[in-house]
Parts: sequence; structure tokens; C-alpha cells
Amino acid sequence: MSTADFDRAAHLLGEGVPPSRIHTDQPSPARIYDYWLGGKNYYPVDRDVAETILAMAPTTRAGIKENRAFLLRAVERLARQGIDQFLDIGCGLPFSPNVHEVAQSVAPNARVTYVDSDPIVRAHAQALMQSGDPEHIAVLHADARRPQEILEAPDTRRVLDFDRPVGVLLVAVLHFIQSHDDPRQIVRTLMNAFPAGSCLVISHGTADFNPAGVLEATGSYHATSSYVPRTGAEIEELFLGMPLVEPGLVPVAQWPDMTVPSRAEQFGLYAGVARKPE
Ligand SMILES: C[S@@+](CC[C@H](N)C(=O)[O-])C[C@H]1O[C@@H](n2cnc3c(N)ncnc32)[C@H](O)[C@@H]1O
Repeated sequence: MSTADFDRAAHLLGEGVPPSRIHTDQPSPARIYDYWLGGKNYYPVDRDVAETILAMAPTTRAGIKENRAFLLRAVERLARQGIDQFLDIGCGLPFSPNVHEVAQSVAPNARVTYVDSDPIVRAHAQALMQSGDPEHIAVLHADARRPQEILEAPDTRRVLDFDRPVGVLLVAVLHFIQSHDDPRQIVRTLMNAFPAGSCLVISHGTADFNPAGVLEATGSYHATSSYVPRTGAEIEELFLGMPLVEPGLVPVAQWPDMTVPSRAEQFGLYAGVARKPE
């Protein structure tokens, strides 16, 4: 989606920020994303907000889908390179194929800890766990802004082996972390917990490709929006100097294939993967 569209969407989603309990009469960002992806885990209130946003920001749905496709491409590639455990923070509602399904299609014993701050995600993902794989899958209701809690959670410890490389997925979530919550420190805490060879996967909204759209959206929207678009340089800093794997930090549609049209001004998202060195 264009950055202006994303900004509008994020602002409207921000008005429906999830309470700590689940309400079916208030919109939930995770359920709205599910609606856009074509899932079934939404209520009329979510659909109404999702359609309102689409009317204002028509490229939103394509952007969400492109981002999801990047996530799955990255997971498959890492699994092929031998990473068989993932920490997926800001995972959203289950939507097949999920991270564990893609990873297990390559590495049948792959393990995934899913984390989201929206309680609806855990509620729905229980079914995912009960469908037969609690040994390999955990779902936490936790906040990325408190990474130590995620790392110390018994479910995380049960599923992930901290002595082996982990794929840390922060896909379309860090742009919901305000700068005063120090996203770099969040990433550092997470990556310090895992050994060399671990990988960091990030996609992140940006205004780089559509500054005019952002100007348009900034005014009344941006002041209250919880969405924080960052420049390519700022997003690159989130990788903490770890080497980016080819092709580097690129428009989301172009990872890892730079011959694909970028449609960058449409989607307004950067994506990249880094590997923790020895
Ligand atoms: C755009 S969706 C991305 C879902 C998934 N990563 C993907 O790319 O398909 C963002 C998700 O991040 C979650 N989220 C937002 N802020 C968060 C935070 N501080 N901690 C954990 N999850 C958060 C939202 O609830 C939502 O499910």
C-alpha cells in the first residue's frame, strides 16, 4: 500500500487499539488484517472498519498480501538454509499457510513461538496448538516492547532451543513501536539471546517512496497515529550492523528477487534479512 494509505489505515486501526480482554463489538487490528487477507476470523465490526479503510486507502489489501508473501518467502529460505526454529513477534491471527507450515514443509520438526499483543490472536491460535502440535508450537500473548518477558516465558523456553540459531521475525510490527520505546534496543535484546547464525527478518513501513503521499497524510492523521514510518537508513539501523543477506534492504516485493517490479510507491514497505555473525 502507499505510505499515505498505510498511515490512514494505521490511524484508523489505532482508534480500535485492542483492550486487554476480547470484545466482539469493538474492532481488533488483528481481525481487520485477517479480513484483508481473506480469512474468516473477523466480526461485522471488523469488516466495517476494514471496508472503511479500503475505501480511503484502496491499496491496503494488496500491501498486506505482499508483506505476507515476503514473510513466507523469508521463512522458506531460512528453513532451506538450516534454520528450524522461529520466534514470530507480531504474528497476527493464524492464516494458512502459517510460518510453522512453511517451515515444516522444509524441516518437518521445525518449531515456532508465535507472539502478539492482541489477545484475540492467542485465543484463536489455541486451536492451532490443539490441532496437534503443542511440542513444536507455542503462542504467547505478550508485547514486543518487553522482549525480556518474551524470552523468559516458559512457553518460549519450552519450544525454542536457545543454544541453536533462531529466525527472529519482526514483520510489519516495528512500525507500531514508537521511537521512545527504542525499537533498536528491543531488537538488540532479542538478538543477544540467540547464537551466531541466527537471523533477523524485518519488514517496515516507510515514506521514502511516496513523500507527497505522506505529506498529505501527515496533518491531522499523523499526530495521533501509532504508525511510525521510518526511512531506509533508519530501518537499516534496526539491523544493528549485522550483515544483510542479498539483496539487502529492498522494497518488500523485491526480496529476494530484484527482477520483480518493486511497486514501491504502492506498498511503502522495506524488507530485509540479516544474519548474526560469529
Ligand atoms: C500488520 S500485522 C502483521 C502480522 C504478520 N507479522 C504478517 O506480517 O503477516 C501486525 C501485528 O502486530 C501486532 N502488534 C502490534 N504492536 C505489537 C506489540 N507492541 N507487540 C506485539 N505485537 C504487536 C498486531 O496485533 C498485529 O497482529
